[in-house]
Amino acid sequence: MLIFKTKAADIVSEAIKMLWEQDVPAHDVADMLEYPPDPAMGDVALPCFKLSRTLKKSPVMISDALSGAIADPVFDKVESVSGYLNLTASSSFLKDALFGIIEEGDRYGSSDVGKGKTVVFDYSSPNVCKPFHVGHLGSTVIGHSLKLIHEFGGYKCVGINHLGDWGTQFGKQIVAFRKWGDRETVEKIGIDELVRLYVKFHNEAEKDPSLDDEARAEFHKLEEGDPENLALWKWFLEVSIAEYKKTYRQLGIVFDSYKGESFYTDKMPAQVQKLHDMGLLKLDNGASIVDLDEYGMPPCLILRSDGSTLYPTRDIAAAVYRKETYDFDKCVYVTSAQQILHFSQWFKVVELMGYDWYDKLVHVPYGTVSIDGAKLATRTGNVVLLKDLFKMSVDKVKDIIREKNPDLQNVEETSEAVGVGAIVFLYLSNNRIKDINFNLENALSFDGNTGPYAQYTYARTCSVLEKEKPVGARGTVTVPEEADVIKSLLKFPEKVAQALDDYEPSVITRFIIEVCASFNRFYHSCQILKADDPDVKDFRLSLTQAVNNVLRTALHLICMKTPNKI
Ligand code: ARG
Repeated sequence: MLIFKTKAADIVSEAIKMLWEQDVPAHDVADMLEYPPDPAMGDVALPCFKLSRTLKKSPVMISDALSGAIADPVFDKVESVSGYLNLTASSSFLKDALFGIIEEGDRYGSSDVGKGKTVVFDYSSPNVCKPFHVGHLGSTVIGHSLKLIHEFGGYKCVGINHLGDWGTQFGKQIVAFRKWGDRETVEKIGIDELVRLYVKFHNEAEKDPSLDDEARAEFHKLEEGDPENLALWKWFLEVSIAEYKKTYRQLGIVFDSYKGESFYTDKMPAQVQKLHDMGLLKLDNGASIVDLDEYGMPPCLILRSDGSTLYPTRDIAAAVYRKETYDFDKCVYVTSAQQILHFSQWFKVVELMGYDWYDKLVHVPYGTVSIDGAKLATRTGNVVLLKDLFKMSVDKVKDIIREKNPDLQNVEETSEAVGVGAIVFLYLSNNRIKDINFNLENALSFDGNTGPYAQYTYARTCSVLEKEKPVGARGTVTVPEEADVIKSLLKFPEKVAQALDDYEPSVITRFIIEVCASFNRFYHSCQILKADDPDVKDFRLSLTQAVNNVLRTALHLICMKTPNKI
């Protein structure tokens, strides 16, 4: 209802000027306006006590005077109730707003707050040779959704997959592959085979610790640029990325850069030198650290005692590189909440190093995921692989579609969109910091507040519009169900802004649910194609068209696909 709020604020501000010759700017009034919990109290309300001090009058006097003075076709009702000014949008305002939404098409809800600004998003970032498990889903979908929301807000965005592609584990992988692996099997099976080899290495190293020394030596050779080890490592990387890309394709995600941790190998020494020159490094049992005691944090580890670099070292070098390369206005990192300390530590180190952009680094943490209801074969210890979860969900959707809509074409594509979407939607329904418990049955239900329900509602609008399209800009609101749909659609720009400010895609998810609920109430209680009056019919088709546009845009913002038929 941003447009209505803005309009209402303008009018109230004018009325204040007229009544009391006081200047309360419209945007200040807009900040005071609230959405009443009960629609009987208007679409927006002004709690007049907020003006008492400025106007030196009681809230009741203010609301009474304002309600007497305001008469505008934007409002259907202007009521003063115990110091509250309750404002209800008129049918003619809502009708115009609806046609405005349709006119804006897929730009409706967008803005240019970010014009000329660049934001870097570091998200997904799995560790190479390790399986992509449900824990990575959060970073992947929250990160990508935030990127899309920022783009919608006019920002230039860069999506980086900061792959965990460097570290001693690659020495282990190399040893394991040479001892027990072969090319053909890895080529055929992919990451799962690499994981099997890695797990075997750990089991064997427990019996024979000399394997660890061997692995260290191989990693050292890799660091020195040994061509054979380098070729193997590159190949492991390719195998892994090829597999991740399958998941990204299912989610409709494309990255601008796959520069992982290894990319910063030759960029770290300069930063370590700078830390050293600034006197920030301290020796601690042979390791180099930055003491953060003063800031209530444990020390940030920069170099191991053997001189090798660590995760924070790579993050510092990467941030400097990104600032130089993209000149970002914000650099956003999306990871699980378990890494909050890691980010606080190295953000502080960047600040101590005198980089004046330290406050442009943003960590966006999210809660953990657990699974119930889905008994998944766990091939690798205790983690649930994302591809297994997706597959299970897609298969279930396929069964449902075969049963309920056996004639549907594109069953494969549709089942994938709905099955994967169900998991994404559930994931993005809650505040990101909350822990999530997956229940596949609930996620797949077509009548809860789920992904399938939202996609089904979208498909419903498509099927109406497939039969007939609105001629356009005819008719007006005749029943409250229509008004409610428009009121829910009007919230979109404001919800996008909130999702952006709070780094919270769930604001969009909840908005989608609200639009679906109001549209379905309308759909069940009003005739659309069979309406007798041609104006009424056309207006309802326009309404359906607007819901179709807005749902498609909003679903895409949260990484959901929008099949026309389910
Ligand atoms: N690879 C890390 C992990 O899986 C996440 C990396 C996040 N990004 C970063 N710049 N530290 O835990």
